[in-house]
Amino acid sequence: MKKYLGALLALPMLVFAQQSERVTAQQFVDLQQGQNAHEGFRRAHAKGICVTGEFRSNGSLTDYSNAAVFNKGAHPFVGRFSIAGNNPSAPDLKAPVRSLALSFATSAAQQWRIAMNTPPVMAVSDPHTFYQQIKAIQSGTIAEFFAEHPESADFIAWKDNYQPSGSFAAEQYHSINAFYLTKDNGDKQPVRWAMRPTVNVANTSFDGDDALQNELTERLTSGPVIFDWVFTLATSEDDENDPAVGWPESREQIVAGQIAINDWQKQLNGDCHEINYDPLVLPDGIEATRDPILRARSAAYAESYRRRAVEVFNGAFEEQQND
Ligand code: HEM
Repeated sequence: MKKYLGALLALPMLVFAQQSERVTAQQFVDLQQGQNAHEGFRRAHAKGICVTGEFRSNGSLTDYSNAAVFNKGAHPFVGRFSIAGNNPSAPDLKAPVRSLALSFATSAAQQWRIAMNTPPVMAVSDPHTFYQQIKAIQSGTIAEFFAEHPESADFIAWKDNYQPSGSFAAEQYHSINAFYLTKDNGDKQPVRWAMRPTVNVANTSFDGDDALQNELTERLTSGPVIFDWVFTLATSEDDENDPAVGWPESREQIVAGQIAINDWQKQLNGDCHEINYDPLVLPDGIEATRDPILRARSAAYAESYRRRAVEVFNGAFEEQQND
């Protein structure tokens, strides 16, 4: 009896402990936007450039997924290259992370939003610890943070070897979080994916704050920018719910086709500006894993989107648009 009483008394403490570890979307976005929010812009990955193109699917994933995007043929997308951070005029070449987002709309009801970063894994496995990581970056204590977080090992191994290239076209972009490819018969295959570049650009001759954007727009005058879309299939030994742990290189990979980027627009006039690249907007044939980061991302992107949409509605860009 005493044992049960003890357990009962411990319960409120446990609930409290769990609640105190919860981070709301508002807290995330407050932290990410910093003291002086840039009105009308994304609160993270604020600087970017809209792109359009098509995914040329080779049909090789139709055995794993019902998603229409995998049917053989060309599927248009609206995308966005960006750099991490909350400053829409930050210097491109100083950003530690570069990103690519894609939005497919195969019909009004079948949309797929994808946002990828250059690291293959996150440094941490859950939203609360990611919140602590952002605080550590902002307060200059990230080395101490990593020393206390052994789960960051795979991320640190990547970071120590990563050489930023001279082009958005020469980076490899990763889903980081895993998803399931699903079939109507109930089959479910956990996967991660990457956009693998087809060019090698060690350095760029472009300089200035917009070096990567200018390199891209110049590059697009001589033809499309192409990436292979590579899926890595997990086995039962891999934990699809933990975005901090990489999967062995021996895992089977399938190239689903190529994405070809043909054109670009400045973000404020572009089609990508009003898209929320929420990773939980998924079509039939793709399902979310239980990875808690995915839920936190979805909620934070919605909060960031809500803030910037209200600001745009209230005239955040009226001056620029009248220029
Ligand atoms: C808990 C973890 C994370 C939080 C709280 C978070 C938060 C955010 C927020 C608030 C935005 C701005 C959304 C908008 O206004 O449209 C954003 C954008 C973005 N995030 Fe995250 N993020 C997280 C993890 C990740 C991960 C793991 C990836 C990569 C796989 C990622 C990739 C991106 C990209 C590429 C964008 C820009 C998308 C675009 O071009 O619109 N984020 N993130």
